[in-house]
Amino acid sequence: MNVAVAKVESDSTTFNIEAIRREFPILNEASEKNSVHFLDSGASAQKPDYVLKKMDEMYRTGYANVHRGAYTLSQLATDAYEGARKTVATFLNAESVDEIIFTRSATGAINLVAGSFGRAFLEKGDEIIISEMEHHANIVPWQLLGEATGSKLKVVPVDQDGNISIDTFQSMLTNKTKLVAVTHMSNVLGTIVPVRQIVELAHANGTAVMIDGAQGVVHSKVDVQELGADFYVFTGHKLYGPSGVGVLYGKKELLNKMPPYEGGGDMIEIVTFEKSTYRDAPTKFEAGTPPIVESVGLAAAIEYIENIGQDNIEIHEDNLLKFATSELQKIPGLSIFGLSERKAGIISFNVEGIHSHDLSTILDSRGVSIRAGHHCAQPLMKKMGVEATARASLGLYNNKEDIVALAEGIKFAKEILT
Ligand code: ALA
Repeated sequence: MNVAVAKVESDSTTFNIEAIRREFPILNEASEKNSVHFLDSGASAQKPDYVLKKMDEMYRTGYANVHRGAYTLSQLATDAYEGARKTVATFLNAESVDEIIFTRSATGAINLVAGSFGRAFLEKGDEIIISEMEHHANIVPWQLLGEATGSKLKVVPVDQDGNISIDTFQSMLTNKTKLVAVTHMSNVLGTIVPVRQIVELAHANGTAVMIDGAQGVVHSKVDVQELGADFYVFTGHKLYGPSGVGVLYGKKELLNKMPPYEGGGDMIEIVTFEKSTYRDAPTKFEAGTPPIVESVGLAAAIEYIENIGQDNIEIHEDNLLKFATSELQKIPGLSIFGLSERKAGIISFNVEGIHSHDLSTILDSRGVSIRAGHHCAQPLMKKMGVEATARASLGLYNNKEDIVALAEGIKFAKEILT
């Protein structure tokens, strides 16, 4: 099996794994409750001190509701919240801060696109193309939309290695295709999808594109202007920030044509009992009190990873992925799902004769945390002919010892269970 090859060796002067590990309290406060070898960052990543302190500081010294008060604390909080929006816009290289909407999660952002763009612009018989390796969050909102509008889902198949065929994708585009919604990186197979090509082909067909970057943004630099997608979504908690905040990037022109998704405070201009008028994006899509401190925490997480360098993180994770792949492949009876040459820090696997849940429990008893199950991707499991897999997913703080502990734990499970 091939995995992504690091372009250059990790530079220990800029990427000091031991120093990084010290910045994550949970990795240093091992107790019976905490795993020492955390290999489930794909589900949710651990948080560095930098993020925890910024959030704590805001609650202690700068917290109030935003956009509502003329008093100093509210203005401070508003500046911090809008500053976070600017940090996200710069991180994604968005053309304008108005293209960044804070949501509750990546799922919330996808539902916003389905509920606003989808309900306004799709009709009976229109088509949405997704891939076979989507997370449920990028399947179910489109099914709900289909129930409301009569639009249809078309699914690009995934091959044995975990890739989608661009030719097949192109052949599925028709004059009815109104939206392509695909993942940037599979949360099960680790495949990095060629989203740039997908955007080009979809746009040539007059079709809008939404990319689910929940995993992708964590493992590689995203430039939304270069990518050209109409929408890009991600979440804070997988990016070393807090849960409770997600981001929807949308092209400004498109966002301003879209109707509100939720109604409530802040998103309005004027409200009467007869009719209300709405503000422009992003405010139009942020009804109610937003995730204030969570957005500031997400901005802190972005500052944290940018300070380490996204290229350095990518190289470190690529090296670790290669090491993990070769260590796991030495174990007889272990098969890896996801053989793409373009993949990042996720390895799904099964061990002959051992259910992934049992494997996960035994690994946990040895301080190794992995995820086991269908990974919110039941259709992909069906395609792969399994009900569940074990999954190890990497974060910037993982090291070779974590991988050795995983491999040793699997060998131990084999000894006692088979
Ligand atoms: N989407 C998260 C995962 O893949 C929860 O584990």
